[in-house]
Amino acid sequence: MNETPAAVQKFAVFGDPIAHSLSPRIHRRFAAQQGIALDYAAIRASVEDFAGALADFASAGGRGANITLPFKQAAFALAQQRGEFAQRAGAVNTLTWLGTGWRGDNTDGPGLIRDLTERHRLDLRARRGLLLGAGGAARAAAFALLDAGVGEIVIANRTPERADALADAIGEPQRAHTRYWDDLVNCGSFELIVDATSAGHDVAPVPPLPFSLLAPRALCYHLSYGLAATQFLAWAHAAHAGQALDGLGMLVEQAAESFAIWHGVRPDTDAVYAELRAELPLDATD
Ligand code: ATR
Repeated sequence: MNETPAAVQKFAVFGDPIAHSLSPRIHRRFAAQQGIALDYAAIRASVEDFAGALADFASAGGRGANITLPFKQAAFALAQQRGEFAQRAGAVNTLTWLGTGWRGDNTDGPGLIRDLTERHRLDLRARRGLLLGAGGAARAAAFALLDAGVGEIVIANRTPERADALADAIGEPQRAHTRYWDDLVNCGSFELIVDATSAGHDVAPVPPLPFSLLAPRALCYHLSYGLAATQFLAWAHAAHAGQALDGLGMLVEQAAESFAIWHGVRPDTDAVYAELRAELPLDATD
């Protein structure tokens, strides 16, 4: 009697734009490393039909999905069950099919902290931080940085109401508060500046930032990588930041956290990071 081969498990990343996503490649590398057979696709969804696209994916055997720009808050809303960190962050980047609905987790926050503290060996404790942005990625970063011991976070966003909503959700007014973007010039200097905006994906330039925002040896970190991070990293270098990092390491680490949720094993990230870094050098910016 012939044995039916075990079905290859299906995974995907959903976003818009998505064509240049590195997630399929990263997950395939992890799977090869762990001897796991999987299929991992990149699916472009529209805001109007994100839920429908996910439902189609589940019907076709989809078992897990990574969620990126601009659907992290929509993914949070449709998750039937949520992990503790996702619940606090109000954003989901990892969905796991439960059979009747999706469980939502957020691995962006843990991925960011792993990249900063383990790969780059940085001590975040008691730093004064500035967070630019208040979308899904920014929300995860804010909670994760505060959990990691950052002393204070000032949040500035193009749409101030979203920054206020994030500060309210954090609920620690001494440690997390908001300022208008135009008022940042009056906010003193920061030892950590995290750009969590998607401005680099747009044609519209980010409102200019004064160099006086950087404390000596400040760390500047953009949650994106490649072109989307270029403008911010160039600004950081021009302002003499101590370090200017893109989010490639965070991308690899959040993928590893998602992989661990789905497959029960955390892959080794160093080789995959090194391979991608060789293609996306920080030389112009580090
Ligand atoms: P993500 O999941 O990556 O966080 P998002 O939820 O769409 O995506 O959030 C995008 C963030 O980038 C928001 O903070 C957005 O500001 P608004 O809340 O005002 O929309 C910010 N952003 C996008 N384009 C920007 C630009 N050109 N200048 C400044 N901020 C920008």
